This record gives sequence, structure tokens and C-alpha cells, in this order.
Amino acid sequence: MTRLLVLNGPNLNLLGKREPGIYGQGTLKDAVDLVKETAEEHEAEADAYQSNHEGDLVDAIQQAEGKYDGIIFNPAAYTHTSIALRDAISAVDVPVVEVHISNVHQRESFRQHSMLAPVCKGQVVGLGLIGYRLAALALLESFEGRR
Ligand code: DQA
Repeated sequence: MTRLLVLNGPNLNLLGKREPGIYGQGTLKDAVDLVKETAEEHEAEADAYQSNHEGDLVDAIQQAEGKYDGIIFNPAAYTHTSIALRDAISAVDVPVVEVHISNVHQRESFRQHSMLAPVCKGQVVGLGLIGYRLAALALLESFEGRR
């Protein structure tokens, strides 16, 4: 069975109460549920992991090899800084779709550069929590050879 990993970085455990004007009212569970529902519609499964620690996220990417077919990854602030996460994504043969809830291109200039985008399959940016569903759909349909 196809398996997806939804990976979320620092401060995303606070979704729902964290800067709701930017990130909305939805919680991390809502985001994960969207991916789980999308996976079920495609007879696939999804697991979720969130960490506030860069090394934990590196470990999760390394351990995804052979276990997951694709990763939906919101690296949060590490997007803009992390060579370690970029190297981890490059090191594994698992496609990663980068997701950002907010439109990072409308925000501070330091959010407009992603260290990870060049080694990801694609990005979904600025569409709110539905971006997690869209990223899952893109991966699942690519596995089915439909897109
Ligand atoms: C974010 C955007 C990042 O710049 C920020 O540090 C986050 C969330 C987003 O989903 O919009 O924590 O990744």
C-alpha cells in the first residue's frame, strides 16, 4: 500500500492559536486529517510527525526511506535556513512536496527564499491548510501515473 508521511516543523503544533490572522483557525490535526482523508480516497495511508527540533526532522526524513512513498513537508522556519534538511532530502530517494500555509512571498524578505525548494518535487504556497491536501493529491496521482 502507498504510504505518505506528513512532516511538520517548528511551531506548527500551535496552529489554531498561533497568529491566526496569518495561519488561520485550523489546527495541525485538521491539516493531518486532510492528508489522511486524501490518502484514504486513493487507498493509501498517511502517518504524521511534528517536531520543533531540526535534527529530529533530519532523522524522520532519513527513516522515511523504504517506509514511505512520499513526504508532505512544512519545514516552517527551517525552510529558510536549513542546509541539514536540504541534505537529508537529497540523501533519500523519497519525493518531498514543500507546503506553506501562508503566502511567504507576500511576507518578510527572509521568508522568500527556500533552502529546500531546489531539492523538492514541488511547492504549494499560500493556499491555507488545503495546501496539504493538494500536495498529497499531487504525490498520489504521480504514483498512479495519472499526472
Ligand atoms: C510557514 C512559513 C514560514 O516562513 C514560517 O516560519 C512558518 C510557517 C507556513 O506554513 O506558512 O512557521 O512554513
